[in-house]
Amino acid sequence: MTVLILDFGSQYTQLIARRVRELGVYSEIKPCWTECTAEHTKEVQAIILSGGPASVTDADAPKFDKRWIEQNIPVLGVCYGMQLIAHLKGGKLSQGENREYGFATVQVEGKSKLFSGFDAGDKTTVWMSHGDHVAEVPHGFEAMASSEGCPFVAMGNVAKKIYALQFHPEVVHSPRGKEVLSNFLFEIAQCEKNWAAENFIESTVQRIRSMVPQDSNVICGLSGGVDSTVAAVLVHRAIGDRLHCIFVDTGLLRKHEGDEVMEMLGRGGLGLQIHRVDAGSRFLSALQGVTDPEAKRKSIGKVFIEVFESETQRIPHVSHLVQGTLYPDVIESVSVRGPSVTIKSHHNVGGLPDRMKLKLIEPLRELFKDEVRALGRQLGVPDELLRRQPFPGPGLAVRLVGEITPERVKILQEADAIFVEEIRAADLYDTLWQAFVVLLPVRSVGVMGDGRTYEQTAVLRAVRSEDGMTAEWAYLPQELLRRVSSRISNEVRGINRVTMDISNKPPATIEWE
Ligand code: XMP
Repeated sequence: MTVLILDFGSQYTQLIARRVRELGVYSEIKPCWTECTAEHTKEVQAIILSGGPASVTDADAPKFDKRWIEQNIPVLGVCYGMQLIAHLKGGKLSQGENREYGFATVQVEGKSKLFSGFDAGDKTTVWMSHGDHVAEVPHGFEAMASSEGCPFVAMGNVAKKIYALQFHPEVVHSPRGKEVLSNFLFEIAQCEKNWAAENFIESTVQRIRSMVPQDSNVICGLSGGVDSTVAAVLVHRAIGDRLHCIFVDTGLLRKHEGDEVMEMLGRGGLGLQIHRVDAGSRFLSALQGVTDPEAKRKSIGKVFIEVFESETQRIPHVSHLVQGTLYPDVIESVSVRGPSVTIKSHHNVGGLPDRMKLKLIEPLRELFKDEVRALGRQLGVPDELLRRQPFPGPGLAVRLVGEITPERVKILQEADAIFVEEIRAADLYDTLWQAFVVLLPVRSVGVMGDGRTYEQTAVLRAVRSEDGMTAEWAYLPQELLRRVSSRISNEVRGINRVTMDISNKPPATIEWE
C-alpha cells in the first residue's frame, strides 16, 4: 500500500514525500494529470495533493482528474491542493487578496483528527506561501484552523475523509507540521509503517534487475562523490560486474582529487570496476573563451557525454547509464514529474543524445542528500567517502567566474585546498554543507613587499544546509578567517584579495554559476 502524492509543481513536493518516508510510510509521486483509473488507484491508501504555482481558476491551470477526490480514499490537499478541493467541491476562493508568504500563526478551531494532539485554541507557527485562499468552505466541510489573514487555514469533510491545509506542513518552518501529516496518515488514513532503508535497497535492486537485460552491460559515471558512489554500489548489488564505472577527470577537479578519489574507491572494498579517463585538455579546450554560466554548463555537459560515448564503445552491449542524480538536482532543472521552473541546467540531469540509445538508471532521483548518506552507510560505503561535501558536476568551472584557463584552474585549486585544509584543521568540515573558494576575474591593486600587485579576488564560501535547496552562510571563527586569508595571499600567486560571501540561498545560489 502506498501514499500517492500528486504533484502540482511545488518546489516542496519531494519534501512531502520525504516527511512521509520519515514517518515510515512508502509514498510515490505522480504528476497531477495522472488519470484516476483502477490500475492507478489499486495500491493507494491515501492521496496528498501538493502545492503549486498556479491559480486553480487559471485557463492553463494544471490538468487534474477530479475522480481522485471521489474514490473514498482519504485525501489531504496542501496549499494549491486545498484551493483545488475547495473549488471542485463548491467552496469559494478569494484570489490575490491577503497574500501570505513566510511565517504565520494559526489557531486550531475545535477538535479534529487532523489536529489530534492539539487543543482547541492552540496556536502554532506555520509556513505560508500563497496568493489565493479559501473564502468559504464547501458544503460538508468544516473549518479546522484559521490565521489572521485567512479564515480557513485548514478544513475537512470528516465523513468523506477529505482534508486540506493552506500552509505547508512539510517544511521545517512549520514546526508541528509533521504531527499534522502524521495525524493524516495514521489517524485518518490508517496507514501502516512499512518503510525503511532496507526496503528501499531491496525494491531498488529488484527494479534495476528487471530493467537491465541479462546480456547487457551498464555504465556509470563515477565522480567519487557520495551520490554517484552510492548509486553505483546499489546498481552493483543488482547486476555485479556487468556494471562498468567510468571516472572522468575533467581537469576541473580540486587539487589532487583525481588520485584521491581512485585511492578511496579502491580502498572501500566496494568491488566496483573503475576505468579512469584523463580528459582535462578536452574540457579546457571546449571551455576556451566561454564565460556565460549556462554556456559553460552546456559545454561541459556536451563534452562529458562525448567522453562517455567513446568510453562506452569499448564495452559490449551497453544498455543503461547510471547517474547519481538527487532530488534537489532534479527540482532545479526540471520538475520531477510535474510542472516547474528551470533555475540552472545541471549537467548530470538527462540530456543524453538519442544516438547513444542508453536508458537512464537514476536510483536516487527522489532522495535528499542525508537520505543518500544513510543509504550508503547501510550499503557499506566507507564513511570517509560519505562524509565528503558535495561537489558540483561541472566542477571548478562554476567557481571560476569569467574565463576558464589552466592558470586560473591552478590558482583556484591552490586557494581552495588551503581553505578546506584549514576548515578540516578547525574540525568544521563535517558541520558545513560546503566550504570552497570562488575565483573572481575582478582585479584590484595590492601591495606586496614594496611592489604593486594587480591580481584577482578569491571569495570564501561556506554554507550550512539540510539539503542544498536552501542554505545559510556559515559564521566562521575570525582566527580561522585570518589564517586562511593570510595563507591564500601569501601562498597563492595570482590572488591579492580575499573576501567572503555572506549570502543565503535564496536569494543567492550556493555555487556562483
Ligand atoms: P546551487 O548552486 O544550485 O547548488 O545552490 C545546490 C547544490 O548543488 C550542487 N550543484 C551541482 N551538483 N551538478 C551537481 O551534481 C551540478 O551541475 C550542480 N550545480 C550545483 C552545489 O554544489 C550545491 O551543493
